Amino acid sequence: MYRTHTCGELRKEHSGKTITLAGWVQGVRDLGNLIFIDLRDRYGITQLFFDKSSPLAESAKQLGREYVIQVTGTIRERSSKNAQLETGDIEMLVEQLTVLNESKTPPFTIEDVTDGGDDLRMRYRYLDLRRSVVNKNLLHRHRVAQAVREFMDGQGFADVETPFLIKSTPEGARDFVVPSRLNQGQFYALPQSPQTFKQLLMVAGFDKYYQITRCFRDEDLRADRQPEFTQIDCEMAFVEQEDVLQMFEGMVKHVFQKVRGIELENFPRMSYADCLKYYGNDKPDLRFGMKLIDVKETVSGKNFKVFDDAEYVVAIVAEGCSEYTRKQTDELTDWVKRPQIGAGGLVFIKCGVDGSYKSSVDKFYSADDLKKIAKHCNAKAGDLVLILSGALNKTRKAAGELRLELGARLGLRKVDDYKPLWVLDFPLLEWDEEDNRFNAMHHPFTSWKKEDNELINTNPGAVRANAYDVVINGVELSSGSIRIHNRAQQEKMFSLLGLTNEEAQYKFGFILNAFEYGAPPHGGIAFGFDRFCSIVISNLDYIRDFIAFPKNNSGRDMMLDAPSDIDARLKKELGL
Ligand code: AMO
Repeated sequence: MYRTHTCGELRKEHSGKTITLAGWVQGVRDLGNLIFIDLRDRYGITQLFFDKSSPLAESAKQLGREYVIQVTGTIRERSSKNAQLETGDIEMLVEQLTVLNESKTPPFTIEDVTDGGDDLRMRYRYLDLRRSVVNKNLLHRHRVAQAVREFMDGQGFADVETPFLIKSTPEGARDFVVPSRLNQGQFYALPQSPQTFKQLLMVAGFDKYYQITRCFRDEDLRADRQPEFTQIDCEMAFVEQEDVLQMFEGMVKHVFQKVRGIELENFPRMSYADCLKYYGNDKPDLRFGMKLIDVKETVSGKNFKVFDDAEYVVAIVAEGCSEYTRKQTDELTDWVKRPQIGAGGLVFIKCGVDGSYKSSVDKFYSADDLKKIAKHCNAKAGDLVLILSGALNKTRKAAGELRLELGARLGLRKVDDYKPLWVLDFPLLEWDEEDNRFNAMHHPFTSWKKEDNELINTNPGAVRANAYDVVINGVELSSGSIRIHNRAQQEKMFSLLGLTNEEAQYKFGFILNAFEYGAPPHGGIAFGFDRFCSIVISNLDYIRDFIAFPKNNSGRDMMLDAPSDIDARLKKELGL
């Protein structure tokens, strides 16, 4: 037996007992008369103690960091306790020491605060994962998965696996492809999601399906995006939008309750149009207000051309910021002018605590004009009004970004606060300027609102989809929709997307055909599981921390050094 206990579980009650532990040497402290070793495993750290007279003292001194050792000894209460450590009341007086394996000196310190840079830690991910701050995230991920499974099983969902070697599933990204040796010159695509399969499972009568499964998308990477990521993919037959919303609001609440002990309130609902109007994007962070206010009418007609000529003028109010210095406002102006935000400039109105109104455009606006604008924005004495102008969509987006930035700077995006939201009534289609045609906003299997049936022929761009997203604190956690379930409607959708009947049949014949064999009405949703974990656990959207072996921003696995060239013989066999 390698051990009787783990390094995280010994307490005062174990005093006097003979115990065997195994683990990694985190550090050796040689104080001359006394030698202390911190022994670590996944469960914690236990202090080992040797005094100078011990026959093991010399061997203990020789141990290097990350050596794997086994020790047997007696547990005793410490004279100086360490309240930071769960095992901080005790230590082991070591009587037997076996080195199970040696270790080279690791390239960075394996402690909560490490000296290793990002690249180095990715290259030695197995060492990084030994750090408790890192492996804790993955253990939490396991808890989230367990809570999801518990809920889904309880609701009668069946876990069904779907294939990875498939034909392209359109989710808007590029496919990763796999060459076929047996069918030279042909390729499988890796699934961007199991979308079509879960719909076929509904046709097959499975009624309620879910799967925690990997998806692959060849797209540009960011903190919240990996080329392979995991979805909690779900589908239900005989449901309307409301059924799906109720079910999965329940799932999110269950997970928060189980994993964090947090009781979420009922999710508010907001239309896509209102999200854009009030928050400048379709995934608003509702932890704070600072809504966008349309001030075009109030600011027009004062000969300030920038505003008069603008399609849209928008204000946000930063509470209690009227005392911002010139340096601070200049800095914010530079911030909105960065290419990522792309605004032309920023106008400020300072609503002084003394009742004064000053602005960066005093030449055009009298104190009275400014007061009127401030009133329209509900700004109080002591507030700062920030105004952007330009083309509607671009300016809304910039104002939305500025709102988030100010929210962060003012400490309004609190880490212990969760504000979930359903976003509803997405447009069915979005216009692609480059290709001069419509794309599906969600995906081509999404149905549209009955009320908009007429519009589909007259003004397809205005048609609203039966689609919904869960957003928490500005992060899109999931997307779903009620699907099309008959052939004619699906063909209509493909034609709106510019596919000929032949192309539709070639690419999607399998699902069009299936719809002719008694497809039930159905709908579903998929959660980004990595994002879900990141939000539930850390309230951030940095998913790499929750993936055991992630890729870097160039899509490389630094540890494997992948992607890489392949064997010339294999290439030949594949006909490449
Ligand atoms: P969608 O494409 O919106 O919908 O994806 C669902 C959720 O998956 C997460 N996600 C990602 N997470 C990490 N890295 C990525 N590259 C990445 N891309 C997406 C997001 C997103 O909300 N089949 C549909 C769902 C459905 O209609 O049922 C789908 O895949 O959290």
